[in-house]
Amino acid sequence: MTMIDPRDRLIVALDLPSVTAAEAMVARLGDAVSFYKIGMELTYGGGLGLARELIASGKKVFLDLKLHDIPNTVAKATEQVAGLGAAFLTIHAYPQTMKAARGALGGSPMKLLAVTVMTSYDDADLAEAGFAFGVREMVARRARQAQTAGVHGLILSAEEAAEMRALVGPDMLLVTPGIRMADGVLGDQKRVMTPARAIAAGADHLVVGRPVTQAADPVAAARAIVAEIAGAA
Ligand code: C5P
Repeated sequence: MTMIDPRDRLIVALDLPSVTAAEAMVARLGDAVSFYKIGMELTYGGGLGLARELIASGKKVFLDLKLHDIPNTVAKATEQVAGLGAAFLTIHAYPQTMKAARGALGGSPMKLLAVTVMTSYDDADLAEAGFAFGVREMVARRARQAQTAGVHGLILSAEEAAEMRALVGPDMLLVTPGIRMADGVLGDQKRVMTPARAIAAGADHLVVGRPVTQAADPVAAARAIVAEIAGAA
């Protein structure tokens, strides 16, 4: 596994209703957290300004925008996000999309993460959408296509991490949500893993939202996760 500072392995998902609430959470977390994920909801609510502020203050930012469009549009959008200084950007794992995004990176250190199949999809959903493969085969196929396209990593559930690590080898980044402490509240997550188990399964970064942002003491929650990661890495 690549050497990554345990604190940088924790990515806190800023799934909060407004930029103001997100800024307050970031201020509260202070040095306990170095890496934040900003998704579509916050982005469309003014979150790109927050992304700029976070990057200017030395934090790393994962923009979870799940790009997918014609190659020219994907390439131009990727250039814009790279220009912001984001560390990670998600794209859908369609070969055209992945090639366009990869080609647009130029010398940017931004890393692309491919979303293979959304975890809300099962085999019947893929069939309904017109695909010939079930989820397992599609995930494996798209993971290999991502690797061929030079995409840096994959976003996937912690449960898939061990199998995916075996499939793609040591160099692709595996970034996993669905993390809960052993005594944690599940919320709407059904298949979860503890930080230590996710790291042991081959995850490089863990995306954690509510277990930090809804904790009575978010700083203590973040520190506990980093300590568990450090113990497992
Ligand atoms: O609050 P919680 O830790 O469940 O948040 C997990 C984060 O990871 C959220 O931003 C959620 O959208 C994201 N995510 C997920 N499951 C996926 C893909 C993304 O929970 N399959």
